[in-house]
Amino acid sequence: LHPIHRLLSCPGTVATDVRREEQSFGSAETGSEDRTLKRFSEVQKERREQAQRTVLIHCPNKISEKKFLKYLSQHGPISNHFFYESIIDDQLNILLKEFQLTEENTRLRYLTCSLIEDVAAAYFPDCAVRPFGSSVNGFGKLGCDLDMFLDLDEIGKSDAHKTSGNFLMEFQVKNVASERIATQKILSVIGECLDHFGPGCVGVQKILNARCPLVRFSHQASGFQCDLTTNNRIALKSSELLYIYGAVDPRVRALVFTIRCWARAHSLTSSIPGAWITNFSLTMMVIFFLQRRSPPILPTLDYLKTLADAEDKCIIEGHNCTFICDLNRIKPSENAETLELLLKEFFEFFGNFSFNKNSINIRQGKEQNKPESSPLHIQNPFETSLNISKNVSQSQLQKFVDLARESAWILEQEDKDHPSSNQLWGLATLLLPSVAKSMSHTKKKKKPASERIKNLLESIRSSSTENSKNTVGK
Ligand code: GTP
Ligand code: MG
Repeated sequence: LHPIHRLLSCPGTVATDVRREEQSFGSAETGSEDRTLKRFSEVQKERREQAQRTVLIHCPNKISEKKFLKYLSQHGPISNHFFYESIIDDQLNILLKEFQLTEENTRLRYLTCSLIEDVAAAYFPDCAVRPFGSSVNGFGKLGCDLDMFLDLDEIGKSDAHKTSGNFLMEFQVKNVASERIATQKILSVIGECLDHFGPGCVGVQKILNARCPLVRFSHQASGFQCDLTTNNRIALKSSELLYIYGAVDPRVRALVFTIRCWARAHSLTSSIPGAWITNFSLTMMVIFFLQRRSPPILPTLDYLKTLADAEDKCIIEGHNCTFICDLNRIKPSENAETLELLLKEFFEFFGNFSFNKNSINIRQGKEQNKPESSPLHIQNPFETSLNISKNVSQSQLQKFVDLARESAWILEQEDKDHPSSNQLWGLATLLLPSVAKSMSHTKKKKKPASERIKNLLESIRSSSTENSKNTVGK
């Protein structure tokens, strides 16, 4: 290739290392066996030569990488290639990497459940304590609470237990007026036990009159804020469904994390219960939006049900919660839209959604007429007569819509007017409330960039400390 073709370009590019002859960069580059360290001048020379054999090509988003490389290789062998995503796509993926649960944190969550299980086993041998919610559904952010489910259904099922001795001890919930009362009694004794004897369990609160009764406590050794429930098997199934949606396409988790961060930065969500949108509802909105793309990025829940086989069948309290569990049998989407485009379209979509008429329905993957008058209606995917966002007030919904419109507008401007180096750009413009305001009204009176970046970092830092503190008050 003639040097004139080694064009410098912007995001959405592919860089290829076209080698005319086989060159070895030696083991120093791969850091293996041979400990010969390269001189500075050698590295410089090699890198310069490498640069001369490299081209940077701007290509359309929807390109087939395989075909493109095949085409290019007609002009010379390609030793190496890198596809770059757009700047915003990279930022979304970085945000995901920085905030997602780490391997150690995930292990600590399962360990904490296992420790609580030991305590609960004093009353209910063979019970299981399982994590659910964002600790396991793929959308958990470092610092999120640990939702636990005390599973009593396994009791008596284990053969090992039955054959381990001559006696079998049976447990029985004595006659109580309702399942709810039984749940309250079970949680009440476990709460007492954790409070008096649970190692490292502090601040135990029994919140037994809530819609879903729970025991809340801090587990000091792990630092987690824990919510223990029982008789909440549907929530476990919801976690599995979200896990599947997050796993079938790599864009889903990055988009959900970004929307959650955006909502948090603008105080649309809070860790205190109230009239605001919850992270769970936001996740459902992203899933719904991705089902509405053309071609769809995510399948509908009804479709996942049609893929299910006999062993996937699951009915909980009369609700059909069946869907395919083997995610390898879900075909990948043919939609190749970038995260940047999806983010912008998400804001457009919900900035113009007819919330007054329509309900968000991930089971059917299309809007339905709203069955009741709550400002925001998101159908509970399994208990279909319920609305998971019944708590959201009209003013909170309006705030969401206004911010979505504003954010769509900001991303639109970014496209037109590529940012200059002294301005905030990309995701930062969406996460800093003061910047969002100043950009939407007038470009006058801007603070110096250095001060705005300082503010942004402060706001990210304080929102993460606030987050860890907030889990205490949740
Ligand atoms: P964060 O804790 O905010 O990171 O997200 P989360 O998904 O864990 O939410 P939360 O702790 O509030 O709730 C835990 C789980 O309970 C969720 O993942 C859902 O499965 C379920 N859940 C929460 N809110 C509702 C609701 O309003 N309706 C229903 N049906 N389930 C809910
Ligand atoms: Mg949670």
